Amino acid sequence: MTVHYSSANSLRLATIGANRLARLLGDWNNGSGPLHSRLADSLRGLVASGALTSGTRLPSERSLSAALFMSRNTVTKSFDLLRGDGVLSSRQGDGTYISTTNSSHSIRGDDRLRSFTDGDDLGHIDLRSAAMPGLAMVADHFNILDSTRARELVASHGYLPSGLDELREAVANYYSALGLPTTRSHILITSGGLQALRLAASIVTKAGSTVIIEEPCFRGAIESLRSLGVRLVSVPSGSGGIDVDELAIVVARERPALIVLQSTVHNPTGSVLDVFRRNRVAAIANRFNTPVIDDATLSDTIIDGDRRPVPLAAGSEQVMTVGSVSKSFWGGLRVGWVRAQPDVIAELAAVKGGQDLGTSLVAQLLASNLLPQIEKARDERLRTLTEARRLVLNSFSERLPSWIPEVPMGGGSLWIRLPVARATSFAQRVERAGVRVLPGSTFSVHDRLDDYLRISYAGAPSYTQRGVELMAECWNSCYSGVSE
Ligand SMILES: Cc1ncc(COP(=O)(O)O)c(C=O)c1O
Repeated sequence: MTVHYSSANSLRLATIGANRLARLLGDWNNGSGPLHSRLADSLRGLVASGALTSGTRLPSERSLSAALFMSRNTVTKSFDLLRGDGVLSSRQGDGTYISTTNSSHSIRGDDRLRSFTDGDDLGHIDLRSAAMPGLAMVADHFNILDSTRARELVASHGYLPSGLDELREAVANYYSALGLPTTRSHILITSGGLQALRLAASIVTKAGSTVIIEEPCFRGAIESLRSLGVRLVSVPSGSGGIDVDELAIVVARERPALIVLQSTVHNPTGSVLDVFRRNRVAAIANRFNTPVIDDATLSDTIIDGDRRPVPLAAGSEQVMTVGSVSKSFWGGLRVGWVRAQPDVIAELAAVKGGQDLGTSLVAQLLASNLLPQIEKARDERLRTLTEARRLVLNSFSERLPSWIPEVPMGGGSLWIRLPVARATSFAQRVERAGVRVLPGSTFSVHDRLDDYLRISYAGAPSYTQRGVELMAECWNSCYSGVSE
């Protein structure tokens, strides 16, 4: 199934669905005062921040109350309040809209990464981020900052938009060891995989360009691509990765400016593309001359099967590979990269230079010392993730046997199917019981997939298990007899 999606600007003039609005509202009901005024305050905040703009049509009171797991009366009273203040207006028989506002905002995403900006002073069990804690060896390497090389670097001006040579070299070696011959000139160092993805997308698209993306896909990719104003067209992705037959059809029809996918450990499904599918994707890119971003940020967290597959880029020079030390060593380093053809790297370096003049050399120096130890990091991740995955799967089969997890081939999260499409409302409800999880719609270009949750098992197993216990209590008391 292929569904079209409009650009970020026209999106704002469209209807916003209940699931998406619930996600934007986040933890709106923390705080004091009657529930309806808390909800009204949060809606007002979304208008003030530009997340909801003039003319946006809101979901019905009934569907929003279901998504928020609240009484309809609460939603009705909050809409009444906002109508009284002029924030909302209603048209007879045609729903409720955001009134005309004076604020004008540039294109932005829609806050899918807010779990990283929300503080948690309420002591929730937070199973939203699948990011693992850093390896102990990262801290052990901090003493490198006292080295001769550090002194040498500090004696220079320190602005290197393409990246520190020894790190570019280490990344090139990393790919050559995977069977993809690479030199330093193929590598641009970035501030994490997310910046790499956005930069790479920005040089091959303009506002309105068509970009093919997986459904579901990494929430940060949706956020970044939306902020570029491109038109997103989705192709389904399941336990074997992207549906290659469908990809071929959609590329032939749409002639997109770019394809974005994750070949090697997909977030959120945990899939890894097999060799046959990899070859087919590469052949499509070659045949249609279409650039591909292969976001392989999670590739060092493979649990099952070949742990060092040959990168997709081995089959096509069209592929720009995104990588990072975030999942292997530590996200706090904020070091990632793009691997692409040297002329593309030169262009990317010019764009990155204009944006931030380069990534911190302190972090790059650390990363260049860590990356040669990638085998050790992979082994450590394998040990921890294998056990954490086994325990979380056991917990679910014991406590929530009607939920159907995909067994991930890598990474630190479960993509799990619920027996009813109530993930948004369940996520709202269970937050009140002290657990935070992400509904499937967070990973959907179309705000669908409300029959899925993504649950992290990247933290300590006892922490995850407590979360599963609380979810089971909440599910059994509120949803067990519910049907569509
Ligand atoms: C698929 C994918 N790409 C990119 C990123 C961001 O990586 P980084 O921390 O290196 O920016 C993540 C983080 O969760 C991810 O899951």
